[in-house]
Amino acid sequence: MARILLTQRLVPGGADLLEASGHEIEFVRRTSPMSHQDLVAKASDVDAIVCLLNDLIDEAVLASSSRLRVVGTVAVGFDNIDLDAAARRGVAVVNTPGVLDAATSETTLLLILAALRRSSSAELDLRAGRWSGWGIEQHMGLDLGGSIVGLVGYGRIAQAVAARVQAFGASVIHHTRHPTGVAGWTESLDELLERCDVLSIHVPLSPSTRGLIGPMEIQRMKPTAVVVNTARGPILDEVAVADALEAGRLWGAGFDVFDGEPTVNPRLLAAPNTVLLPHVGSATIRTRREMCDVAIQGVLDVLEGKTPPNLVNA
Ligand code: GLV
Repeated sequence: MARILLTQRLVPGGADLLEASGHEIEFVRRTSPMSHQDLVAKASDVDAIVCLLNDLIDEAVLASSSRLRVVGTVAVGFDNIDLDAAARRGVAVVNTPGVLDAATSETTLLLILAALRRSSSAELDLRAGRWSGWGIEQHMGLDLGGSIVGLVGYGRIAQAVAARVQAFGASVIHHTRHPTGVAGWTESLDELLERCDVLSIHVPLSPSTRGLIGPMEIQRMKPTAVVVNTARGPILDEVAVADALEAGRLWGAGFDVFDGEPTVNPRLLAAPNTVLLPHVGSATIRTRREMCDVAIQGVLDVLEGKTPPNLVNA
């Protein structure tokens, strides 16, 4: 029997696999992360950790238990886990690929459409009692149909976004470092930035993607373009986006993720034509439940000596 730490409360039914596993489970019944000190202490005698994306699993946590064999994160992104330290200690890391592609791509579409149509400011006007009646020039936006959507990254979520925007009549180009063999690939990020009407970011956060889209990149974009980030905040320079929006050098922007969450840069809050969501990309009832199952099953597999399909650090 192994000892497994669950760092935070999961969704209803999300811990069923853990409860049925026959292992000893330490449930931390919180809906926010513990202090780092508490996490290190709690992790000190466990074989496995099931965590969420806002738990920092660094060297200190990984080193706290000599028995630790696996960390499962209920998320597809794993930038909160020090993979090098995990590798040095022979700790497996598992995540939740696949099950959140539909939900996250739908959130991306929500932000793309809302940014193109500037729906947040239209709704704000209505709610503030500033709507005095229908007018032919009120709140005119831009069409997704007929536009060019530029995807940075072309993993599962990007491909799900591609299928959805194509169904709306948009064409898709994408940039990755290595050729994908799919029509619309470009090796040049600059070319993608210059051509697209919608830029959507779908790469993991890593040292090579931190700050990937900065002021120079934003400057290459059309003034009628929108930028959407549903990946990780630090990949996109929020101040550069705010500058461009204020100067009318971008049509709009949609964010689901932020640099320094849960703090949102005041420049972004004040910038015109933004749609801002509190990191809800995968937040549907079905998806969140499936994410719990996938992460936990990966952890149980490792404890049984199997190689799960969602192993990050093979
Ligand atoms: C959400 O951001 C995730 O990585 O699952």
